[in-house]
Amino acid sequence: MNKINNLFKNKINQQTPIWFLRQAGRHIPEYYSIRSRAKNFIDFCLNEELIVESTKLPLKYYDLDAAIVFSDILMIPWAMNRNVKFTKNVGPTMDPMLPDESKIIKNINIPLLLKPLENSIKTLRRDLPPSVCLIGFSGAPWTLACYMIEGQSSKDFINTRKAIWGSNIWFQELIETLVIYITDKLEIQAKAGADVLMIFDSWSHMIPNNFFKDFAIDPIAKIISLLRSRDINIPVIGFPFKSGGSLIKYSYESNVDCVALDWTVNLSWALESINPSIAIQGNLDPASLIPKHNPFLRENVESILKKMKDRKFIFNVGHGLTPESRIDSVKQVIEIIKEFEI
Ligand code: CP3
Repeated sequence: MNKINNLFKNKINQQTPIWFLRQAGRHIPEYYSIRSRAKNFIDFCLNEELIVESTKLPLKYYDLDAAIVFSDILMIPWAMNRNVKFTKNVGPTMDPMLPDESKIIKNINIPLLLKPLENSIKTLRRDLPPSVCLIGFSGAPWTLACYMIEGQSSKDFINTRKAIWGSNIWFQELIETLVIYITDKLEIQAKAGADVLMIFDSWSHMIPNNFFKDFAIDPIAKIISLLRSRDINIPVIGFPFKSGGSLIKYSYESNVDCVALDWTVNLSWALESINPSIAIQGNLDPASLIPKHNPFLRENVESILKKMKDRKFIFNVGHGLTPESRIDSVKQVIEIIKEFEI
């Protein structure tokens, strides 16, 4: 058994488990040579050999408690035929859904289209030591709807917010359809051998506050109840990025087993406010791993550990590692954790 699943089973008398969001990406030099073996990023995410290799890559460098399968949240819009492309220096783009577009792509066979993801998880679970927790993931309905409506990232997701206020039927249908596809994607990962699932809601802070429950909480609760009805009982980590005070309601009503915190959250506040029966993950600022000399790194990591010592806690960054993250700094954080708890 691995430390992360142990923690969910209340075996908390152990070292704090640690892994890093986007640990398999661009801060590791070999990542680029793995990626260059695929024609484009989508092909990369559909190539079993490359998925397995990149998922394992960070474990060559670091003593980590988890591996997150290499994929992308935008593989669901890709499967929905939205013409998803990843362009260098531009980021992801796709065909924007037109206002009032009523035709939402139904009957997409997610298990069939994402077969390489399923097969890679099977291989990874066989190859990885049992002490490494294998994490499967998906984007949340709101975040996927944001990309699908805008056709790209945006500073304010105005078209998606407009769709909420217009109470457009197609928007409601889009969210409901995404709930099903996301559940399907999480289900295949769990059945293939993932030990934990994570749902990334990277743009939850764009939701108008009075709709936060409708679009950030209820769809997650629905996904989790569908998973449980399909006999999938592994823990789910929810990541409502930069949701501030709404994290409290999320922690009580979304039914996640763990809430991931971004780097802006005050941990003392989180300890007092967040549902005490669920675990917490996060919230080291990934930017703290960029400077060559960061005189605050040790103090900060130790302060997080001290605050969280009586809580079910998974050490992680508060958002993905950036390409500039220093391998030395990541190693140092892991060492500090090991030293702290000897
Ligand atoms: O954590 C991991 O190492 C696993 C792999 C993973 C990727 N994307 C690979 C990836 C995970 C968990 C994701 C999730 C993801 N993808 C999110 C949620 C987390 C977050 O960052 O908020 C989002 C919003 C996306 C969408 C996405 N994918 C964007 C906006 C981009 C471009 C980013 C950029 O800076 O250019 C991607 C591409 C992407 N996904 C890369 C990786 C390693 C970089 C692509 C490359 O190799 O150039």
